[in-house]
Amino acid sequence: MRTTYRNQPDQRQGLLDWWAASTGIHRMIEVGSAFGDSAAIWMKCNPDLELWTVDPWNDADMLASFHAKHSGNLHVHEVRAVSVAAPPMIAAIAPVDAVYIDAVHDYANVSADIKAWRKFIRPGGWIGGHDYNRLKFPGCVRAVNEAFGGPDRVFCDTSWLVRLEAES
Ligand SMILES: C[S@@+](CC[C@H](N)C(=O)[O-])C[C@H]1O[C@@H](n2cnc3c(N)ncnc32)[C@H](O)[C@@H]1O
Repeated sequence: MRTTYRNQPDQRQGLLDWWAASTGIHRMIEVGSAFGDSAAIWMKCNPDLELWTVDPWNDADMLASFHAKHSGNLHVHEVRAVSVAAPPMIAAIAPVDAVYIDAVHDYANVSADIKAWRKFIRPGGWIGGHDYNRLKFPGCVRAVNEAFGGPDRVFCDTSWLVRLEAES
């Protein structure tokens, strides 16, 4: 049986809203890609997007499902690693326009992910993630609030979003 974090399609509106609000995203990193559902949304919104997907994919069925959706798409780059180990592996691709964090949702991991990945993002770019939910994932909420003073926007699927400052 699959893990319960798979959202239903009608719960994805927040991700689509996020995309629609985010012009200028051509290169993006997703941390935590699982079965490839959210990656499919990014690619559907912009088929020319260059997307680096970071996940250890310890579950063979999960990886097979990801491959079924994305292998053969030369715009989708698989980075098989845990989040904080991946930046040195793909340092050459920086900067990107956006990073979406959806891996482990406790305080320590979300804090570490934000710290590891925000420096990959261009000035004026976007950082966001899933599960900004005070009841289910208080550690995620705390990590985002500590790092940014809170998100700029939270969507109905609990995706959070912060726009980084542009260079002056
Ligand atoms: C919530 S799921 C991602 C769901 C996916 N973004 C979607 O919406 O379709 C979390 C994923 O994070 C991955 N993961 C767990 N620990 C991780 C880590 N330290 N770094 C990166 N990914 C991790 C898991 O393998 C799992 O696939």
